[in-house]
Amino acid sequence: MDDTGPRTADGKVLWHFTMSLDGYVAGPGHSMDWMTGMTFRPGLVAEYTATTGAVLGGRDGWDVINGARPYGGSWEGPIFVLTHHPEDAEPAPGVTFLDCDVAEAARIGLEAAKGKNLEVFSPSIGGQLLERGLIDEIDLHIAPVLLGDGIRLHHAPGGPPIRLQHVEGDEPTAAVNVRYRPV
Ligand SMILES: NC(=O)c1ccc[n+]([C@@H]2O[C@H](COP(=O)([O-])OP(=O)(O)OC[C@H]3O[C@@H](n4cnc5c(N)ncnc54)[C@H](OP(=O)(O)O)[C@@H]3O)[C@@H](O)[C@H]2O)c1
Repeated sequence: MDDTGPRTADGKVLWHFTMSLDGYVAGPGHSMDWMTGMTFRPGLVAEYTATTGAVLGGRDGWDVINGARPYGGSWEGPIFVLTHHPEDAEPAPGVTFLDCDVAEAARIGLEAAKGKNLEVFSPSIGGQLLERGLIDEIDLHIAPVLLGDGIRLHHAPGGPPIRLQHVEGDEPTAAVNVRYRPV
């Protein structure tokens, strides 16, 4: 099966998600139970735990996870949460609430990442950074499930197609072939 090489720590801004085959990163009401029972390639979580220097997320995602830390709590590092109303956010250790321009939030996050990667855990913030040319790579784990509803990686009705290239391999514009059967 085609797969990416191991993640490396390069001071990049990554839009990083596990995504359903039909393009959702969360189900309705921010549900994440669709990930239950999924497997990842061996060592994948350790790769990202080691190469992530900081995380930038949005207020909705933060409010939903209720203080839980990324990667099942195995990652320690600074988390930045972008919000228009930091004053009513519950303080949490290692978490900074920012109310600033999205580019400034990315700059702050990258500086805090100290040469490792800044992971953007928010569709809306990732979309804003993409528009400004500030996403280095989109890093996805595609789950064998169709959700049909929820929060899309990229939701921009009426917007133009955004062309992408494979980071690895020698065919940057090749389609990826996958084949599934319904359970
Ligand atoms: N599948 C995966 O691997 C994965 C990984 C991480 C997260 N997730 C999921 O992703 C979902 C994220 O939810 P979401 O994208 O709907 O919301 P979100 O990005 O977490 O939050 C959106 C909110 O962030 C604040 N915000 C966004 N841009 C801002 C800006 N430029 N300035 C100030 N504040 C700004 C605003 O909050 P205010 O207006 O309230 O201030 C906005 O309403 C969650 O369900 C989470 O569980 C999935």
